[in-house]
Amino acid sequence: EAEAANRAKSQFLAAASHDLRQPLHALGLFTATLGEKVSGQSERSIVGNINASIESLESLFDALLDISKLDAGIVQTAVQDFPLQTLFDQVQTDFAAQAAAKGLRFKVAPSSAVVRSDPVLLGRVLANLVSNAIRYTQKGGVVVGSRRAGGQTRIEIWDSGSGIPEEYRNKVFEEFYQLGNPERDRKKGLGLGLAIVRRLLDLLALKLDFRSKADRGSVFKVTVPSGEIDAARGFASASGVPGVDILSGKFVVVVDDERSVRDGMQALLGQWGCQVLSVGSIDEAIQALAKRSDTPELVLADYRLRGNTTGIDAIRIIQAHYGKEIASVLITGDTAPDRLRETRGSGYQLLHKPVRPAKLRALMSHLLQPRGHH
Ligand SMILES: Nc1ncnc2c1ncn2[C@@H]1O[C@H](COP(=O)(O)OP(=O)(O)OP(=O)(O)O)[C@@H](O)[C@H]1O
Ligand SMILES: [Mg+2]
Repeated sequence: EAEAANRAKSQFLAAASHDLRQPLHALGLFTATLGEKVSGQSERSIVGNINASIESLESLFDALLDISKLDAGIVQTAVQDFPLQTLFDQVQTDFAAQAAAKGLRFKVAPSSAVVRSDPVLLGRVLANLVSNAIRYTQKGGVVVGSRRAGGQTRIEIWDSGSGIPEEYRNKVFEEFYQLGNPERDRKKGLGLGLAIVRRLLDLLALKLDFRSKADRGSVFKVTVPSGEIDAARGFASASGVPGVDILSGKFVVVVDDERSVRDGMQALLGQWGCQVLSVGSIDEAIQALAKRSDTPELVLADYRLRGNTTGIDAIRIIQAHYGKEIASVLITGDTAPDRLRETRGSGYQLLHKPVRPAKLRALMSHLLQPRGHH
């Protein structure tokens, strides 16, 4: 019975918000016209206020419409395999300016994960969570990232904001429930974001966890099943999303004894969608590789390594470990003629420092190209 009542309420809301949107739309148009006609300072500021009120109304309607559609069971899901990075790119575009305006650090860590869900609806979940993270953080920052967790991918949104006290951890998911907005200032939101998130996650059958500490911050984690990379390639081209290509998901080993170089490479290659294992020495490489079941597709080795070893040794030993040839690039900062001869003589692809990302990317794409017999 409660469910029937709920359904009726939702249908009413859906119908009402639809009908109310019409005059609201007109109101917006009239106000814009009025805005062009008035010239006085005080009239302009009144028009500005009308516009701000219209915007709040519009977002209230959007949110109500979302909720009621979800409750009415009329939201269709289109589950497919796609690169998580496409949503991360969107988050970056949509929220970087907002975070910067508040003086917050904002980082979206590149992800090579391929996930299986509805990209549009999952995108709305992330948008709501990131919007909250930014809104309820006054200092520090927000980090969005992902990690693999037992065949699944966990998307994480960290903030250093006001946090949600334990006693409110369920309440905040209720409609219109807000902490710290007793005056119900609409500029501070409506209290519908998490109610929508909860419904979307139910619909998508995804799990949300969160941890929070008052005045310390929160982390929201959404666990999504993994998808298949081949299926996801189709998604990338069909949707015209750039940045997903041959490098996406490729397992690359970076051998360099300089920590800062390793970190830089990790970030850059991660940005391109590679799975990166970066190590400081040959021993470390072999130890780390022994723990993994998959075989690297590419080795990027710095020529000069510690302890009288070279990148050539690294490449040879890694290849010997797998008993097969693996595409490899030697990176060298040496310009002495002898060294150059030696590195060239090794037969491996060679790049000179400083390596331009575009060049590295082009070479990697070339080497990783799927090819037939040759
Ligand atoms: N990351 C967060 N840190 C601290 N508090 C949060 C966070 N996310 C949500 N909250 C609290 O939970 C309440 C409900 O969040 P919800 O997203 O549902 O609504 P809102 O952000 O207030 O408004 P809306 O999302 O509709 O614009 C917020 O008002 C805030 O008090
Ligand atoms: Mg919100």
